[in-house]
Order: sequence, then C-alpha cells, then structure tokens
Amino acid sequence: MSNLRAAITSLATYSPDYVLTNAELEKMVDTNDQWILERTGIQERRILKGEGLGTSYMGAKAVQALLEKSNTRPEEIDLLICATATPDFVFPSTASLIANEAGIKNAFHYDVMAACSGFIYALHTASQFIETGKYKKIIVVGADKMSSIIDYTDRATCIIFGDGAGAVLLEPTTDNTGIMDAWMRSDGAGWVHLHQKAGGSRRPPTLETVQNREHYVYQEGAVVFKHAVQGMAEACTHIMNNNNLKAEDINWLVPHQANKRIIDSTAHKMGLPDEKVMLNIQKYGNTTNATIPLCLKDYESQLKKGDNLILAAFGGGFTWGAIYVKWAYNPQ
Ligand code: UT7
Repeated sequence: MSNLRAAITSLATYSPDYVLTNAELEKMVDTNDQWILERTGIQERRILKGEGLGTSYMGAKAVQALLEKSNTRPEEIDLLICATATPDFVFPSTASLIANEAGIKNAFHYDVMAACSGFIYALHTASQFIETGKYKKIIVVGADKMSSIIDYTDRATCIIFGDGAGAVLLEPTTDNTGIMDAWMRSDGAGWVHLHQKAGGSRRPPTLETVQNREHYVYQEGAVVFKHAVQGMAEACTHIMNNNNLKAEDINWLVPHQANKRIIDSTAHKMGLPDEKVMLNIQKYGNTTNATIPLCLKDYESQLKKGDNLILAAFGGGFTWGAIYVKWAYNPQ
C-alpha cells in the first residue's frame, strides 16, 4: 500500500448573520431558556434569511473563502462533494450549484446524503480519491439550511437546529499526516425515528401533506438520543482500538454537535477531559452537515501539525462513524 494520504490543508466556514436566541424561541413555542440549556447546551443558532437563498448560498460563501484563504484558483479543483440534508433542489446537486457559483469548472461534483453524518462520510469518500493518486485537490463541503425543514411550532425540534456551512480542502501528503483511518456504519431500520414524512418520491408533496406539516423534520428525540450515545461511543472506540490510541494520545475529539449531553457521554467513554473536546453547540445549535467544519474553524488557531483528532458523528438513517485525522498544519 502506498503511503499517500489525504490531508486537510485549509478550511473556511460561513454562518448567516441572523441570531435566533432561546429568548426568541420562548415567544414562539412553550419552552424556556433553562430547559434548552440543560437538555441540549444550546444558547443560540444562526438562521439564513432572504428570499431565494438556499443551502448552496452558504456553501458557495464557504468555498469562496476557502479558495481565497488557500490561494487556490477555482480551476485547480478536481472534485467538489457537498454533504447536505437540505439540498436547494431534489436535483441538480447542491455541489454543482456551489461549484458553479465559485467558478469551479474543471471538476466533477456531487452530493452525499447521510443526514448528520454526511460530512464524515463525504470526507472518507474524498480521501479515497486522493489516495489513488489520481486527484490532487478536492473540496468537501458540509452545509445545511435546517430552518427550511423545521416546524417552528414544534418545540421538540425547533430549539435544536440552525443553519451554516463549512468547507475543507483535501490534498495528497506523504508526511504521515492527514486522514489515517475511518470507521463507518449505517442501519436503515433507524429511518422511522428520524425523517421527513413527505416531499420525496414515496409521498410526493400534495396540499394535504403540506397542511399536515409533513415536510418538516420528524424526530423521536429520546430514541435517537439513545442510539446516538451508543453509536458515537462505538465508532470512537473502534478508531481508538484500530489505531492503538489511548486517551492521552488524542489531542481533540471533534464531535457532531447534536446535543451537549451526547458529546459529554462520548468524551467520558473515551476517557477525555472537557478541554480536549471541541464544543460550539452553544453558538450554532445543530447545523447537521456543518457542525464538524464549524468546530474545526473555531479551534483552528489551537491545532498543531501532528495533533491527533477524532471526528465523530451520528445521524438519521441511522448513520454513524468516526475518522482519525493527524492534523497537517500549524496555525498561520
Ligand atoms: O443530529 C443527529 C440526530 N439528532 C440527535 O442526536 C438528537 C437526539 N435527541 C436529543 O437531543 C434530545 O432527545 C432532545 C433535545 C430532542 C429532547 O431532549 P430529551 O431530554 O430527550 O426530552 P424528551 O423528548 O424525552 O422530553 C422530555 C420532556 C417531555 O415532557 P413530558 O412528557 O416529560 O411532560 C417533553 O414534552 O420535555 C418536554 N419537552 C420540552 N420542554 C420544554 C420537549 N421539548 C421541550 C422544549 N421545552 N423545547
């Protein structure tokens, strides 16, 4: 096997300006700041406002920032993969819309749909393309406009989700950094607990489905919570065992930000102290595919070349997994 690996060499994000606070949600549904904070850890989330703006708007902003930051010309990009659960359209892909907006013309683009695990699924997929030696520059985007599929009369879901986007640049390296290992699983039987009831080919949109509010996220929170706690721990344990990593070898856990209690439980099972766990759910809520790049961006200035990171996620499907990344660059 060659020692060619895919390294994250740059990253950028986009967060909409509008801040939806717990106090504002208190006026919309029967909830309160204390319940939301204690049960989820969320204080506020960002919401994309503006007529005609979809997920690709945020994804393109993140990609444009990434190209500028990494000094990369759009025509150098070979492939762009977008992980999203809220595509602009059923087709074409949101990846194509983002690439078009960013002037990426010498590439192919497609979406990955794995709900909240989409970003790590896409990262794992992209790393395989790099490891073949055939592709040199790949962008992986995680972006979601969750506010477009949230029922703001349903207190069980509207308090959790937010909008955002992040993008990473993957390039080949032989210096023993980059994506070292990945462990992924799915269980299609989990679909009943977390899905959108209508709007797809099984139940196309009708007046009735809209009136019944079936185009919004349906989540059995407590069931998903239980599976998320198990799945995140399972994935992280596999990655630690496969790579002989002890808690003291791990510099950072980069968990999907769905609920602070899920994150705390995962860290606890891994034997990690709080200071090794990336956390920004308080600012953004659950942005689905954007949570992990948003975390990496917030902590980028603290990451050093050679740091051992474990990225982990759990989401609808069910889907879950973890990726071991050896960080490839020092703060600039
Ligand atoms: O992103 C990937 C997939 N998603 C997740 O990983 C999310 C996993 N699930 C969760 O994070 C949690 O289940 C939630 C935050 C969604 C809910 O927290 P919970 O502690 O599991 O609450 P629950 O659904 O068991 O509800 C407990 C109580 C219920 O009242 P009763 O029946 O005990 O009287 C709910 O009606 O809390 C009530 N409740 C609320 N109360 C105030 C539910 N939502 C709210 C709310 N404010 N927003």
